Amino acid sequence: MSAEKRDHWQSRLGFILATAGAAIGLGNIWRFPIVATQNGGGTFVVVYILLVLLVGVPAVMAEVALGRHCQRNCLGVFRMLTPCSKWPLVGALGVATSFLILSYYSVIAGWATGYVFLAASGRLASLGSESLARTFQALAAEPATAISFHLAFMAMTVAVVILGVARGLERWNRILMPGLFLILLVLLVRVWTLPGAAAGVAWFLRPDWSHLGPGTVLKALGQLFFSLSLGMGALITYGSYRGRNSDIPSTSGWVVAADTMVALLAGLTIVPALFAFGLPMEAGPSLTFVAIPAVFNALPAGGLFGTIFFVMLVIAALTSSISMLEVVVAALAEERRMPRRAAAVLAGTAAFLLGIPSALSQGPWNDMRLAGMPLLAAADFLASNILLPLGGLLTAVYVGWVWGARSAADEILQGADRFPLGRLWPAAIRYLVPAAIAVVMVTGLLPGRG
Ligand code: PHE
Repeated sequence: MSAEKRDHWQSRLGFILATAGAAIGLGNIWRFPIVATQNGGGTFVVVYILLVLLVGVPAVMAEVALGRHCQRNCLGVFRMLTPCSKWPLVGALGVATSFLILSYYSVIAGWATGYVFLAASGRLASLGSESLARTFQALAAEPATAISFHLAFMAMTVAVVILGVARGLERWNRILMPGLFLILLVLLVRVWTLPGAAAGVAWFLRPDWSHLGPGTVLKALGQLFFSLSLGMGALITYGSYRGRNSDIPSTSGWVVAADTMVALLAGLTIVPALFAFGLPMEAGPSLTFVAIPAVFNALPAGGLFGTIFFVMLVIAALTSSISMLEVVVAALAEERRMPRRAAAVLAGTAAFLLGIPSALSQGPWNDMRLAGMPLLAAADFLASNILLPLGGLLTAVYVGWVWGARSAADEILQGADRFPLGRLWPAAIRYLVPAAIAVVMVTGLLPGRG
């Protein structure tokens, strides 16, 4: 397909919103508060923000530039620049990682879909925190329910991807992102005015360096890659739908800023809510699904707002899941010449099947362990803390050393109004980003470290 004929975003705002839409999802609202509460709160937040600035921003620009330069999917870029080499394997790793994340992401998004119905039917209203915890258990542990919602969510993902980039992906994000932001703000204000919430805000913001260890930094890095959709080809693919004269530095900055803001907003809402309602911090997967309904129950017209919130969460998850499926579909369509529709149905069905063990892991397969973790947590650990950093590391090395930091920087400059700290970028992508990822992975994965 020639670059001219390639489906493109209709506008700069369309790209920002679509990419922010891919970035903002369950990773911000569901995963960030969990990982933060399990890893020391304030300390984790500080490490996270530092890593966003040092690793996240340069890496996002590198992936978008690579995709825009080649106008190809995440496998095609490596084939185009370095045919007859092993580098396309990095693209294949990205496709595999997207596929794995999609499989369990859809399970969690399926719970959120179930919560739309629970909230709308008023069944959450007036439940105390213990009953809310039991309600979550009943939904996630019941195989038929969990698998049906997983299926429903995957079907929606496939449907949007079939519609294509501009019509499918772009349209949704325009409405959703601002709405999600607003409703999170409303929730935040409500929580902060509850008695007891202040202690949660303080806990979330106060660093306690005794929590700082290689394990914490690895989890922060994993969260960063997951949240920014780095290291698995999504940003390469989305960058490839951009025209040569689009502005990479400022749009990347906006995407990273929006993503980080939403994660912090979610953490600053959910953690104080735990304190105010006396909910356990180590709730794991159920955390968001118990804390958020508890807040809504303390609001007037909470049922209505709760329904709106979960609809938005589902759409936020959808704009992320379509980007994962899009990675796989673009690769199949362009590299294997498979029709788009067939590729979407095939990959969606396979990801649905692969997700079933994750769905069962909250219920009947509760006791099964992989590397000491329940299946869903194990899949998430493998993807976020190993595969994504590995993909990010290899991509940074590729952009910095193989494609070349100079050529990449030229690509970034093309169409850019400004490239703040642009002189530092080549050094960042060649040395800082790969070294940081390598050190964090090696120390964090060494046995016996927390
Ligand atoms: N970034 C998305 C989120 O925070 C998840 C995601 C990961 C999307 C990887 C695409 C690729 O929910």
